[in-house]
Amino acid sequence: MTATIEEVIMEACDLPAVPDVANKVMKLLADPNTSSAMVCRTISDDPALTARILKISNSAFYGCLRTINNLQSAIVIIGYSAIRSLVIAVSTKEVYKNFGLTERMLWEHSVGMGIASHILAKEAKISKVDDVFVCGLMHDIGKVIMNNSNSDLYNTVMERTYNEGISALEAEQDLFGFTHPEVGGLVIKKWNLTDELEKAVQFHHDLQKVAGEDKYILTLTSIINLADTICRRLGIGTKGPDEGIDVKGTEAAKTLGFTAAQLDELIPMIAKTYSEEKNIFE
Ligand SMILES: [Fe+2]
Ligand SMILES: [Fe+2]
Repeated sequence: MTATIEEVIMEACDLPAVPDVANKVMKLLADPNTSSAMVCRTISDDPALTARILKISNSAFYGCLRTINNLQSAIVIIGYSAIRSLVIAVSTKEVYKNFGLTERMLWEHSVGMGIASHILAKEAKISKVDDVFVCGLMHDIGKVIMNNSNSDLYNTVMERTYNEGISALEAEQDLFGFTHPEVGGLVIKKWNLTDELEKAVQFHHDLQKVAGEDKYILTLTSIINLADTICRRLGIGTKGPDEGIDVKGTEAAKTLGFTAAQLDELIPMIAKTYSEEKNIFE
């Protein structure tokens, strides 16, 4: 991204800061000397965050067999990496302010993408599934920020994509002069998340741009891109399902080496998991 685009975005959009507790927790988790008691104490400072983490830890999504009834156990049982992803997930939800129809759809798409990306990551045997979940959840955060910054203009973007059938990217470029993946990449950078996440968010609509990157970045970006195609096909956070969307022939499916038979199982699995788990953050 050129410095000028970055400046234009900073000027037009109010990029959210990562909430204070989340920032502290992320710093602690990055330090190998941190004990679970220290993490527990920091998260406990925020009762709403604590309640959310406990609720999500007990959801089928984390697949725990026994009930987790306190934060200390949650940290030990689901592990640092999952706790970190939950703290970021809860912080992401806070960016979705005034919940109107647009925010509702964007949020549904975001949760669906977190779930879909997580499922695809497991199928692709990626070890960092929690990271992939966060990436799926945050991939379109640029849209939310653009909508928060100028909701009238972003509504026009949405209308044009629905009525004229053009892509969100084209409408955004035309009306704002920049696009949601560019804004999203800047948020990831501001939140001090990884370079890999930043690239995957920035290029989730343009796999060509990561073709020369290392294998993990290519895989991560392909997972987000494929999950997005699947969510659009299933109508998760869009105006409705679109059976006409070809998932199997996509570049992303080829890069990940998913066969038609695998995708025939994965797509209904994503639809089912989404319908069962879509309220985990409520
Ligand atoms: Fe997108
Ligand atoms: Fe998307």
